[in-house]
Amino acid sequence: MRISLPKWLKVPKQTNIPQISDNLIQKEKMINQENKYFRLMLEEIDKLQDEENRKFAHTLLSNVPDYFFSVPASSSGKYHPSNDLGNGGLVRHSISVVRMLGHLLEPYGYYDFDDEQKELLKIAALFHDCMKSGTQEEYEKNKHTKFLHPLYAANFIMTTAIKNGYPYEKALFIYNTVISHMGQWNTKGDAILPTPKTLDQKVLHLADYLASRKDINMEFGEEYFDEEDVVFDDTSTVTAYEKEKENV
Ligand SMILES: [Fe+2]
Repeated sequence: MRISLPKWLKVPKQTNIPQISDNLIQKEKMINQENKYFRLMLEEIDKLQDEENRKFAHTLLSNVPDYFFSVPASSSGKYHPSNDLGNGGLVRHSISVVRMLGHLLEPYGYYDFDDEQKELLKIAALFHDCMKSGTQEEYEKNKHTKFLHPLYAANFIMTTAIKNGYPYEKALFIYNTVISHMGQWNTKGDAILPTPKTLDQKVLHLADYLASRKDINMEFGEEYFDEEDVVFDDTSTVTAYEKEKENV
């Protein structure tokens, strides 16, 4: 079924769009070809079976803000497991969510997702926090977590899909899961994010929730996690989501 684009969505001009491979090469040059966290993300993306999905995830990876490859997943260090902290913590957290999602989908009979939906959920897991502190420019002014980061990431995914001709229906599936990934911790002041309603939205939130439990730590090995890198910063602002999650 063909879905027409919503009126609020501005479609970028289809001219001067760099090829995916060019994007990747540029990004690799920009962030240093030796960046192991970039490689760690690439390894996960290369496991996607569908070529269209794999290319799209490559394009997303080549366009995320540079800080994504170095920052911890928690700005305070108080509300995440230790493997989410220190250099590369946000990448490790994103991959932890993919792993947790895999565990939740493994037992037969709880979820009925087909292979395509499982791949889209995996892309959502990899990129749900890719703009945790907003754009690169915003991050350079203020390194704290942005409450509306699910909206930033969902819009980044949708815009990238439209620019590169990735199917709208698939992009919308990813968009809807990413934008509601905060679950019940969806309100701050006047800002309200959507809560998960469908099974795909719920399972992504659940995977993120479990992967960020302080007492659930994923194994990454010495190459990708150095405990001495972990620094606690008691002066930083903690989001309502991070605070609330600890109280559950
Ligand atoms: Fe997350």
